Amino acid sequence: MTSKFFRRTFRNLIFRKRPYFAHLALTHRCNLRCRFCHVTERRFEELDTAGMKRVVDALDKTGVAVVSISGGGEPLLRDDFDEIIDYAAGRGLYVKLTSNGTMARAKYERLLRSRVDEIGISLDGVKGHDLPFSHVGSPILATLKYLNDHLPAGKRLTVNATISETNREEVEEILAYCEEHYPKARVWLNPVVVGEGALRTNGARKCRPDYLTTAKSETRLRAEFYNSGAEQQYREERFDWGCLAGDLFFDVKPNGDYWLCQDQPSATPLNVLEPEFAAKRAMVSKEQRRRCEGCLYSCYYLVQKCFEPRNWRDIGRMWWQVNTAPGGPEREAAKRYGPWGAVACLLWRGAFGWAAQPAPRAVALLMLAAGLSNGQAAARVENQYTAPGAKRWEIVEAEGPGPIMPLLKAEEESGRPGVDAETYGVRRRWGGTGGTAVVPGEAAGVLERSTLEFD
Ligand SMILES: C[S@@+](CC[C@H](N)C(=O)[O-])C[C@H]1O[C@@H](n2cnc3c(N)ncnc32)[C@H](O)[C@@H]1O
Ligand code: SF4
Ligand code: SF4
Repeated sequence: MTSKFFRRTFRNLIFRKRPYFAHLALTHRCNLRCRFCHVTERRFEELDTAGMKRVVDALDKTGVAVVSISGGGEPLLRDDFDEIIDYAAGRGLYVKLTSNGTMARAKYERLLRSRVDEIGISLDGVKGHDLPFSHVGSPILATLKYLNDHLPAGKRLTVNATISETNREEVEEILAYCEEHYPKARVWLNPVVVGEGALRTNGARKCRPDYLTTAKSETRLRAEFYNSGAEQQYREERFDWGCLAGDLFFDVKPNGDYWLCQDQPSATPLNVLEPEFAAKRAMVSKEQRRRCEGCLYSCYYLVQKCFEPRNWRDIGRMWWQVNTAPGGPEREAAKRYGPWGAVACLLWRGAFGWAAQPAPRAVALLMLAAGLSNGQAAARVENQYTAPGAKRWEIVEAEGPGPIMPLLKAEEESGRPGVDAETYGVRRRWGGTGGTAVVPGEAAGVLERSTLEFD
């Protein structure tokens, strides 16, 4: 990650509508025909390598920090994918690429050698060859194993699992498999987006999102605000999340055409290679996004919500999950010595690099001895979606020497459309190692401590 990336990220924390992220589709061609994806139905002329580099220059001029080579077909079908990645990385942009994992091994070798920051591989099941979508198959599993085993330090590997009503029962299996075979990969679960929209599937039902809160895995990424967005989107016909398509993020098609997002073309046709693109982009109408029935594409939703201060705690937690490994020194220090152990570990790692492993424990021990760490036990409490309007909080992990002080998140569901669910933190002493808290969804007003009942 470059200083430009950090500067631009910091800038967006203050000016939230500035362009931060762009999808760059290198092609709309694909070797697969996944049942939920309509990308291949729209064909575009493809710019050559020099043209793509000029697109990258123009994107950089708009001020984006991240270029994600996704949102189109299979990018590795183009032979110049690594040249374009290296060019964008050379301009100081954070570059992510998403592939379906079915290309020849030589392509993934080249991808690992490139300057890509993050590799996403789509996987929707771990058994069979065409179940439930075409994303399943042994070549993808083998590609992921190869990437996991050869991932250089500093690069990230993400598994993108798109979940619909057809494969939602397989979520636990997918997670367990990834955890066992790809410990370096972080798994992100995406509910399939259905309804009107250029690239969506319109022949499927919305997917009940309860698996987002119940599925557990050490390598799975989770964000409470995303989970509650998914629940809201499931309940509402029109999900208005205040989308900033065209301002904070946008899409670029293989011919350089500018779209607000992958589903919504620009009302006024505009191409990134036109003179004065940056100025023209700021002027185009964003009317479609107001008419759009909403989406839960994680690439857009997550990025936009990250900049809202109320979600920063969640983002901090996700950062921890992405940057520390299950069983790694930071997580061990956090388990044994509490948050101060984790902080010491991270400081140490920041100061002396990732290689130093035993030292953080010594630092954490010293801090513990100095009384800076309270040595308390930790409890992980999760809410589970049971039915619309009802939630259950469950202590899923409890360990450590001292009294447990779980932070219970009680979420009031107002039931009024358009009003965001609010989250309240309730601290409560807990002496055992398990139990559940049942919170009625219909509770009016702020939930009181007394409404949390323990078994
Ligand atoms: C459009 S593909 C492009 C990259 C590559 N071909 C792949 O499949 O990874 C990017 C991601 O979008 C997801 N996707 C496609 N259609 C979707 C939909 N209707 N809702 C949610 N995600 C979708 C795919 O599962 C994939 O993870
Ligand atoms: S999701 Fe990816 S692999 Fe599947 S058809 Fe669409 S572009 Fe191709
Ligand atoms: S809600 Fe925004 S990002 Fe999602 S499809 Fe509509 S315009 Fe695009």
